[in-house]
Amino acid sequence: MSETLTFDPIWEEKYSQGHSQRYPWDAVVSFVFRHYPHHKPRHEVRILEVGCGTGSNLWFAAREGFCVSGIDASHSAVKYAQKRFAEDNLTGDFRTGTFNQLPFENNYFDLVIDRGAITCCGLSVAQQTVAEIRRVLQTGGKFFFNPYSDRHSSYVSGRPGSDGLTLDISAGTLVGVGQICL
Ligand SMILES: C[S@@+](CC[C@H](N)C(=O)[O-])C[C@H]1O[C@@H](n2cnc3c(N)ncnc32)[C@H](O)[C@@H]1O
Repeated sequence: MSETLTFDPIWEEKYSQGHSQRYPWDAVVSFVFRHYPHHKPRHEVRILEVGCGTGSNLWFAAREGFCVSGIDASHSAVKYAQKRFAEDNLTGDFRTGTFNQLPFENNYFDLVIDRGAITCCGLSVAQQTVAEIRRVLQTGGKFFFNPYSDRHSSYVSGRPGSDGLTLDISAGTLVGVGQICL
């Protein structure tokens, strides 16, 4: 397997076998409420999540009345998110694709969320993604960035790959996440 994948297929494998996250991460909830532009009506506040997985963070934001978009390279994850939104009568714009090429116009979003997704790529893809996020964020928009640290207990159990990646983690809570940049 190449050691500089833009998207580790382990994620598609997990989601196609039924892996899902149903509820939002507490830090994302705090970020959204603290940083959304309070002068705008919520339906005009645009929120993007890169690597949105099964859409739990955006599900919370949509229920709170925000206008949400998500992109994930896993087709199965996007399908799950779309189905869940439809079942709950929520609106969300979900795309299957890689987040280092965002299919959105410049200066479009008020908030962008990365909850543990960019960290799944090497440094060169991460740099391209952050540049893309900057492009699609409005001036004064806010970016929630949640990578993992190299102090994580799993770090020492992996082996170094190229582009800053750690591979084959064999101990701790990060077992099974595939390539990761700590
Ligand atoms: C740890 S999960 C986080 C999912 C979601 N953000 C959450 O908080 O539940 C990482 C996600 O990043 C996605 N991902 C990894 N590399 C990607 C890429 N290059 N482009 C788009 N999505 C990617 C995976 O498919 C997976 O859904």
